[in-house]
Amino acid sequence: MTELTQNPAAGSAASDDSNAGHPMWSSRLAFILAASGSAVGLGNIWKFPYITGENGGGAFVLVYLLCIALIGIPIMVAEVAIGRRGGSSPINSMRKLAARDGLSKRWVWLGGMGMIASFLILSFYSVIGGWALAYVGNSAGGLFVGASSESIGEMFGGLLSDPYTLLMWHSLFMVLVVMIVARGVSSGMEKAINILMPILFALILVMVGYAMSTDSFGAGFSFLFSPDFSKLTTEGVLTALGHAFFTLSLGMGVMMAYGSYLPKNVSIVKTAFTVSIVDTLVALLAGLAIFPLVFANGMEPGAGPGLIFQTLPIAFGQMPGGVLFGTLFFVLLVVAAVTSAISLLEPVVEWFEEQKGIDRTKGALIGGWSIWALGVLTILSLNEWSGFHPLGMFERFEGKTIFDLLDYVTANLMMPLGGLFIALFMGWFMSKQATENELSIGNGAAFKLLMFILRFVTPAAVLVVFVYNLM
Ligand code: PHE
Repeated sequence: MTELTQNPAAGSAASDDSNAGHPMWSSRLAFILAASGSAVGLGNIWKFPYITGENGGGAFVLVYLLCIALIGIPIMVAEVAIGRRGGSSPINSMRKLAARDGLSKRWVWLGGMGMIASFLILSFYSVIGGWALAYVGNSAGGLFVGASSESIGEMFGGLLSDPYTLLMWHSLFMVLVVMIVARGVSSGMEKAINILMPILFALILVMVGYAMSTDSFGAGFSFLFSPDFSKLTTEGVLTALGHAFFTLSLGMGVMMAYGSYLPKNVSIVKTAFTVSIVDTLVALLAGLAIFPLVFANGMEPGAGPGLIFQTLPIAFGQMPGGVLFGTLFFVLLVVAAVTSAISLLEPVVEWFEEQKGIDRTKGALIGGWSIWALGVLTILSLNEWSGFHPLGMFERFEGKTIFDLLDYVTANLMMPLGGLFIALFMGWFMSKQATENELSIGNGAAFKLLMFILRFVTPAAVLVVFVYNLM
């Protein structure tokens, strides 16, 4: 991922129809690792289990899987293809492609909205990343050993109620992210991720193994996989759709930016499938590791954002080698969160570089600092301001804190809207010849199916879910 440091966008914006000189990923694998690094993160291990719990399990999971297959994968294909053809940062890619095909300049807004979404998401993502950092310490300090589920619950409650501790961990997380983005993502880092991600995967498998040893594995399994549609609400469907975008990092230009580094001879379709499957597997396995523990300890699946922090430590506290496993697990969770956070800060920094000629280090510092400051609102939402519901007068937003609103607006509105326009752009506006060239799956049945999905299915699905929820 060294390439990301060279600010190709600024250089290639000048020459309109060649991407010559634009750096490339060294291989298909390098791209898959980077894109999976962005996709796999807190969304899979923290958010997926807790929203699944809040939305009643199986039926929600089924809708989520359908959203990944029918909407997420096609949009990932479209987004990466647009990025590769544009060969620059999202805003400039949209500008170039719109100019090339004689379209409205307003397509640039798509890139702009994505950048704002990145900014907002990172502000709360970093606070949750901070929770994971705090738990590295808790685990290494042996605080989980033999602890009851009550005391584990109190530990989490104690963390949330203390704004200064939260601020400290949030700051540390942002410092890590800013340092990496400022220095450029080094190849050393790429190698590290190469090793660490498979270890995280293996550790999740260990946790699933532990869950299997409890007598509630069956209960957890059927909670996840046997759908009960009476538990599914229209809001739940919107949450599932939004999460499909969130977990795959779609609809906001991140995959577009990464796609611009993808060599021409790599199959976008195959790659998008690989990344999506890896991401989905991690989420499902995390669910399988967590829900049996929820039931074994008589806890509520709908416990909310603290779910993994209140369940996994119980298991680490009981299993042999739990201090080591627990510490390793939270370290790797931090790594997964950092690799996603990098991809969230990158577009902001790129924009600074392009618009104002601010260099990478300064851009990372200014961007990181503003995001850090915004993060304070999320921290206060968890304690001092937990009773402050700015949009509480609307029924839809009743009881939602600033943190809840940031999460809702980005994942449930901005990302699907971005995805809708990406699908429309590729389905209806980008030249057919260019689309065929980028996808290189010929123009047979597979191509026709994909185009049909992008033209009709994806836009209709997003619109239907939107309309239902606004009514
Ligand atoms: N996909 C990341 C996760 O699941 C979050 C993310 C969203 C990253 C959007 C980049 C862009 O944790």
